[in-house]
Amino acid sequence: PTSDMAIICRKGCQSVRKYREQKERRLAQEKFELGGTKLGNILGIKRRDQKDDQSEDVDYKKSQKFAAHMQEKNEAVSDFAQKKTLDEQRKFLPIYAIREDLLKIIRENSIIICVGETGSGKTTQMTQYLHECGYTKRGMIGCTQPRRVAAMSVAKRVSEEMNCKLGDDVGYAIRFEDCTSEKTIIKYMTDGILLRESLTDPDLDHYSAVIMDEAHERSLNTDVLFGLLREVVSRRQDLKLIVTSATMDSEKFSDFFGNVPIFIIPGRTFPVESFFSKACVEDYVDAAVKQCIQIHLGAGDGDILVFMPGQEDIEVTCELIKERLSDLEGAKPLSILPIYSQLPSDLQAKIFQKADDGIRKCVVATNIAETSLTVDGIMYVVDSGYCKLKVYNPRIGMDALQIYPVSQANANQRMGRAERNFREEMLKTNVPEIQRTNLANVVLLLKSLGIQDLLQFHFMDPPPQDNLMNSMYQLWILGALDNTGSLTQLGRQMVEFPLDPALSQMLITSVGMSCSSEILIIVSMLSVPSIFFRPKGKEEESDAKREKFQVAESDHLTFLHVYIQWKKSGYSNNWCSDHFIHAKAMRKVREVRQQLKDIMDSQKLDVKSCGNWDVVRKCICAAYFHQAARLKGIGEYVNLRTGMPCHLHPTSALFGCGFTPDYIVYHELIMTTKEYMQCVTCVDGHWLAELGPMFFSLKDSLKTRGERARKETSERSTMEEEMRLAQEKLNRMKEEA
Ligand code: CDP
Ligand code: MG
Repeated sequence: PTSDMAIICRKGCQSVRKYREQKERRLAQEKFELGGTKLGNILGIKRRDQKDDQSEDVDYKKSQKFAAHMQEKNEAVSDFAQKKTLDEQRKFLPIYAIREDLLKIIRENSIIICVGETGSGKTTQMTQYLHECGYTKRGMIGCTQPRRVAAMSVAKRVSEEMNCKLGDDVGYAIRFEDCTSEKTIIKYMTDGILLRESLTDPDLDHYSAVIMDEAHERSLNTDVLFGLLREVVSRRQDLKLIVTSATMDSEKFSDFFGNVPIFIIPGRTFPVESFFSKACVEDYVDAAVKQCIQIHLGAGDGDILVFMPGQEDIEVTCELIKERLSDLEGAKPLSILPIYSQLPSDLQAKIFQKADDGIRKCVVATNIAETSLTVDGIMYVVDSGYCKLKVYNPRIGMDALQIYPVSQANANQRMGRAERNFREEMLKTNVPEIQRTNLANVVLLLKSLGIQDLLQFHFMDPPPQDNLMNSMYQLWILGALDNTGSLTQLGRQMVEFPLDPALSQMLITSVGMSCSSEILIIVSMLSVPSIFFRPKGKEEESDAKREKFQVAESDHLTFLHVYIQWKKSGYSNNWCSDHFIHAKAMRKVREVRQQLKDIMDSQKLDVKSCGNWDVVRKCICAAYFHQAARLKGIGEYVNLRTGMPCHLHPTSALFGCGFTPDYIVYHELIMTTKEYMQCVTCVDGHWLAELGPMFFSLKDSLKTRGERARKETSERSTMEEEMRLAQEKLNRMKEEA
């Protein structure tokens, strides 16, 4: 996997850069080009059953014929959704036909793998079936989802089907939001929530059955749960575990759990025809926009779903479609709806609402809509073929979001929502998150569960040893692990907080520095999606308002400032809209703050304010000294540990404010056209030496980067050697015992 990864990484970086450059040029030319484009040859598309050498462009007429054929089907489907009661709809799902067989196989086995097409009813029905046949008498039915939106929307749907209030019999829990009660018997939740529950309830005694849904996504938390649940089931004969997966992974899953049965739900809910782009498209945004317009103008009724890698592409796609349609005379209106995880949830909900009569919906989504969300009425799916993955580079110890080609598993899922490249250039399945991500959080969690030797933990696909060691190193830097790799007192406290290790460390450290009140707000602000908004046509006005809040030394302090002003306004909604701030996001910050404060209270960590923002900056430095950079030119910095050039993000308070500090620390790094540091705070060079002695000393400025790198390597190997010795000693003790 590692060598594959390296190849994809290179491809990914290049294609992103190339794509951005092209896009900029293209956007400038957009208006000009459009005049000369004829509808018929907008995009060459190929029928799947045609051989390559004979391939022809599908012309306008053919796509019309296809559209008419789809329209017939569409009428049948939407009629059905409108006329049938929820109960009747339930009985129409493929899973209903095999309800008894499914329950029988569950009764006879502790663990099963369940495979079925998207839309067959796995997520919404299995929990109800288990409830209907009595499993909830012994405990809750839990169902995990890799995505927050999915957990919420599915719980809502099931509560409607069961005719109860959301949060009563059927509820959901995601980080910082618990919508369950004493009464809850069916609980949808993110996999992260179940993982945290296993900290306090290692045998998951509250549950009589656990469904691990969308397991083929192989999210980090799902992979860790696999290892844990395998043990739990062997301890608890009465617990049922159902793992749902795509066909491709089912054998592997079955093997992992000890050759358990694979149950296949027969039947596809609707037929799918695929068309592949004849050549590799140069600009996937452009190609998708053209395709959507072609469908909209040429094809019969039915909504469109478009897959894009990320928020920025989605926004551009939506705009371009809108713009081009407005340039075309007589085009029917189209309701264009974006969806991505950072979008406020009321706007997300819009994609599920039916558009006004006769208006076609076009949903532009990230892979959020691949399996987790079902939007009724979708007849056409346009797939850009790319997705965004968070990738951890253990060599430089950094996470970055990058664009990658999707895997075959993704493409199949996307297709199910409504080949050559497919066979030869796509990986069969995605590289599981556990093999490409920063594992610091997982290490912390497993250590606190008493799993001392992580290399021995039963992972389905073990993470690269490099990643594991580097994540341990990161925890050691933060003071969460000692030289033998055991949790320290600080580390034990950090586990209590549902936060990234650096943030929980910062919060706990702030208590000793008497600025926990301020840091608590900053951490809460960092835990919600962006609070500022910049409406179209009011960019300058909103930027000006935003600038007023900016504290020149720090984006973190800017956040603090915004919160304090909002508090002064009496937590007013009007104040938010006056200042172009999302009121909903701010209310969420307040909730998060309260929840974190409750944890602090339970840990006897004082919340107090020192009123001195220099102390606050020093505390930020104490948690982020390993992500420090030093000024090189205007707006340009070099990372102190890696020597990599990195830039201030244009939204940063430090950007273009005339104040260019020598040293800064940053919250995260994102790679788009450049390496951007996001959320930055100016620090004193002496603090770096004081707080990060393993990296920096006062003389450091005299040393070359090579010397610093050598120092870091030797520090690191010393730590690794000590950890190894400690491990050997432990193993010997175990053997002797
Ligand atoms: O999990 P799976 O993909 O097998 O299917 P599901 O999510 O249980 O969806 C079954 C059906 O329930 C879908 O075809 C939708 O019609 C409906 N559903 C819905 O209307 N709203 C949701 N939030 C989820 C499902
Ligand atoms: Mg599902």
